[in-house]
Amino acid sequence: MNLLIVGGTGTLGRQVVRQALDEGYQVHCLVRSPRKASFLKEWGAHLIQGDLCEPETLKAALSNVSAVIDAATTRPNDTLSIRQVDWEGKVALIQAAEAVGIERFIFFSIMRAEKFPHVPLMDIKRCTEELLQKSSLNYTILRPAGFYQGLIGQYAIPVLEQHSVWLMNEANAVAFMDTQDIARFAISALSHPETAMQTFDLAGPKAWSPDEIVKLCERLSGKDAKIARMPLKALRGARKLARFFEWTWNVADRLAFTEVLVSGQPLNASMDQVYPAFEIDAKTIVTLEAYMQDYFSRILKKLKEIDYQKSKRQSSKRSPFKSS
Ligand SMILES: NC(=O)c1ccc[n+]([C@@H]2O[C@H](COP(=O)([O-])OP(=O)(O)OC[C@H]3O[C@@H](n4cnc5c(N)ncnc54)[C@H](OP(=O)(O)O)[C@@H]3O)[C@@H](O)[C@H]2O)c1
Repeated sequence: MNLLIVGGTGTLGRQVVRQALDEGYQVHCLVRSPRKASFLKEWGAHLIQGDLCEPETLKAALSNVSAVIDAATTRPNDTLSIRQVDWEGKVALIQAAEAVGIERFIFFSIMRAEKFPHVPLMDIKRCTEELLQKSSLNYTILRPAGFYQGLIGQYAIPVLEQHSVWLMNEANAVAFMDTQDIARFAISALSHPETAMQTFDLAGPKAWSPDEIVKLCERLSGKDAKIARMPLKALRGARKLARFFEWTWNVADRLAFTEVLVSGQPLNASMDQVYPAFEIDAKTIVTLEAYMQDYFSRILKKLKEIDYQKSKRQSSKRSPFKSS
């Protein structure tokens, strides 16, 4: 089966590409910058230059493929808005896929998207889900709650570097998942036709509150976190300010996402029906403890090596007897 993956350079998309190639699929990737995406080519994917916001590029990208996995979304620092990429771009992709008769279409939404009509990205995800449900496509919608990968910059690095970890008191627990596991569901959907015309929430093994994640990072790094508490009011104020200037609309829309995190309900779901549908064994899903343990042991080993090299250089500088 020939696949088109959109968003292949992204955090999740690259895991989808990797696994699709490992499973023996012929992988085509729609990329905006072939230079930036050169690693995908090295892995064995075929690159097609295009852009969701340039609909004329989509028809060519869809020729010779029978399935699409869409893992694209607006980059926070992009000049294109959430509306342009995640709505107008996706409408163009879905319409083009229908026009050429794509057999399978996998789309990534976000858990509980329908509950937040005032949060732009969530509302757009809900509208896209509805568009797919009304389309002629054999779609599967996957709705993760969040990625472990995002927790490195937010928690692990600040704890290691002794910088402030910003926490919101009111934040709910979130059942994050490793993107490698999320990618497994997308690839498995292709070989499980019974997952077509269905929507699945994807929750990790446990919903984690921010304080629990900090404690985990402290335990694994052996360092005490410097915690800074962020008042919700301040974030709402910052969002209003960012809405004021057109060039900070993406930032404002991201800040709106705070409302999802303080809704009072954990972002979590039962996976009882999901694992069997994709024939994925729950025991093989990576836990956050294991993911963080792996991260910290790799980074602490690296830091030890750097310290060792530094002390070796310093002692050879001090020594009057230079080794030849
Ligand atoms: N992050 C989360 O915690 C989370 C949670 C639930 C669901 N999701 C969903 O999971 C999916 C993947 O998210 P992610 O965090 O992995 O995304 P990401 O790392 O931000 O990557 C976004 C990808 O979309 C591509 N892209 C952006 N604008 C594009 C355009 N106009 N045309 C074509 N490609 C474009 C980017 O390409 P460039 O390299 O060219 O920029 C990149 O490959 C999204 O649908 C997201 O909504 C994410």
